[in-house]
Amino acid sequence: MSNQTLNDNKNPSKIKRGEMISISSAKGGVGKTMLAVNLAVALSKRNKKICILDADFQFGDVSLAMDIQATFSIKDIIEGIDRIDLDALISSLNLHDSGVHVLSAPDRPEYADLVTTSVLEKILDLLLGYFDYVIVDTEVGLQEKSLFLIDKTDTLLIVTNLEMTTLKNTKLMIETLDVLGFRDKVQVIVNRSDMESVIQATDVPGILNETSPIYIPNDFQTTSQSINIGVPFVSNRARTDIAKAIYKMAEQVTSRREIAVFEPPKPSLLQRLLRKTKDKEGQA
Ligand SMILES: Nc1ncnc2c1ncn2[C@@H]1O[C@H](COP(=O)(O)OP(=O)(O)O)[C@@H](O)[C@H]1O
Ligand SMILES: [Mg+2]
Repeated sequence: MSNQTLNDNKNPSKIKRGEMISISSAKGGVGKTMLAVNLAVALSKRNKKICILDADFQFGDVSLAMDIQATFSIKDIIEGIDRIDLDALISSLNLHDSGVHVLSAPDRPEYADLVTTSVLEKILDLLLGYFDYVIVDTEVGLQEKSLFLIDKTDTLLIVTNLEMTTLKNTKLMIETLDVLGFRDKVQVIVNRSDMESVIQATDVPGILNETSPIYIPNDFQTTSQSINIGVPFVSNRARTDIAKAIYKMAEQVTSRREIAVFEPPKPSLLQRLLRKTKDKEGQA
């Protein structure tokens, strides 16, 4: 069931809001962009309206990974941001053959600073009011803008591989997100999980204190060919194990929020306090 249907059932007057899924990592080169573009195309096959926000504002390469000749980028809408409406924003997106829309990163790193958190706030509000899913490919680590996006996101995919340094930094990142109160949004993705390594995939739950990571297999040939020709492999190599793993991941990450929506409301602090007082009175 789509989020829209869920929302409509609960409250018909409620304004639709799509789901935001962000992809982050503590190290570069772990597969964020590979996951972002393939997840987006996998979700678009379910007739969902999907947009990718390339939030690696200095070195974003979503357009490259999808072979999009980016006519517009986020830089082009900054000047008129106070007046922009949904139609104007949509006309600034680049459309991929799969139906996925992309808001591309600026074409030069020096423009990254022009993208402020207030620009992002405006853009996300418009995008989430129209698309079913907004997939955000963030820059590495925890900076002002990535923290802003993490705060806004519904689901945060943290990508790691089996390398010692990546795992060490991923652990630190998750601990920091825990302190900030964002732990519940986190879903760990272990990419290249069956690659030859001293650390095994089965060691990861213990190292990261994460009970159920999602594992994506190692497949150099499929991923590198996909990047080189700019075709996400879930489209043209759907029978590979890695594509199947992405489809399964798409299923898992989108069902997270649907389950959350159906969770019975937790009692308020006051209700819990009243209950405790009543229990005590009962014992007396
Ligand atoms: N599961 C995988 N198996 C083999 N190679 C992979 C896998 N995932 C990503 N790669 C390769 O790793 C490199 C970095 O991936 P990319 O998505 O650009 O990382 P990031 O966006 O985190 O910097 C790319 O060359 C990609 O082909
Ligand atoms: Mg990238």
